[in-house]
Amino acid sequence: MSDGLQYNSLESLETLRKSALAEFEAIGTEADAENFRIKYLGKKGILSELKKSLGTMAPDQRAVFGAAVNSLSKDVEGKFKETPWQNKNAGSAADSGFDPTLPGFPFSSGSLHPLMKIRNEIRDIFITMGFSIAYGPEVESDYYNFQALNMPPFHPARDMQDTFYISDKTVLRTHTSPVQIRVMEKQKPPIRAIMPGRVYRNEEISARSYCLFHQIEGLYVDENVSFSDLKGTLLAFSRSFFDEKTHIKIRPSYFPFTEPSVEVDVECFLCKGKGCGICKYSGWLEILGAGMVHPNVFKYCGIDPEKYTGFAFGMGIERIALLKYGIDDIRLFYENDARFLKQF
Ligand code: PHE
Repeated sequence: MSDGLQYNSLESLETLRKSALAEFEAIGTEADAENFRIKYLGKKGILSELKKSLGTMAPDQRAVFGAAVNSLSKDVEGKFKETPWQNKNAGSAADSGFDPTLPGFPFSSGSLHPLMKIRNEIRDIFITMGFSIAYGPEVESDYYNFQALNMPPFHPARDMQDTFYISDKTVLRTHTSPVQIRVMEKQKPPIRAIMPGRVYRNEEISARSYCLFHQIEGLYVDENVSFSDLKGTLLAFSRSFFDEKTHIKIRPSYFPFTEPSVEVDVECFLCKGKGCGICKYSGWLEILGAGMVHPNVFKYCGIDPEKYTGFAFGMGIERIALLKYGIDDIRLFYENDARFLKQF
């Protein structure tokens, strides 16, 4: 039986009014106020139950008793509205424990990954030299990754690159050089393009190598492009990217798709050439491979090697980022530790 039904006379309503007012006066906390509200004014509170009970009364009794219930209900509601707790949302900011005068929480903004920053810097230097940008797929066919780059099946140079095979004829590209082929197939000389992207090699993971990394490929094809154009371009790049005084070293090397081929070293940033763990105590860091485009590669792309010459280069972005930021472990780029990433 609900509480309301025990009040069935005008006297009992007076008793109820008194006890309600007494309880109202005793309200001291928000919780007291809420209990009061539920007990008297809630949907199943005493006053609602009283109103519901009117329906079962004889009409003449209902007229008198109903008027008394209504007046009591109005009084209690009116009183309750006076309390500062009657509506939580209407309470002052201080009551809710929220202090609008406190300084706000700082928003930390995101930033570019260090590898993307380096890639953009390198890209922008070549863009100012008149190079455009091209992209190719990371899942590449054997033809583009090897064959058209003058590495037919069983060519020993295929072993230089620890390839992840997807199937017999499909690989994860081991370098960005296949994009050279894709560009030369589509475009006639003059061609000046850089081709950034991710490459994959099944190498043992260590501080110096990872199973995936990033390269930027460069290609310049036109009539009368010479080896000195290659040297000049790489020197201009190094002086713009590192600094005016950075030394570079050009060493003869071998790639099947360039002839002659070279490797370019930059002075080790960490030890300034004295020798340290990063540069394997040589003072130099290899940053790129390059050379003059092999005539066979031109033939695969339908470009006349008698008429055109060109140079190509490919550099590792991680290596350059290590240099530039003085980082001693390549794996940090792939761990996504915010404490590391926030520093750039
Ligand atoms: N593709 C070569 C590598 O990954 C780099 C390279 C690019 C060399 C272009 C010569 C010309 O090692």
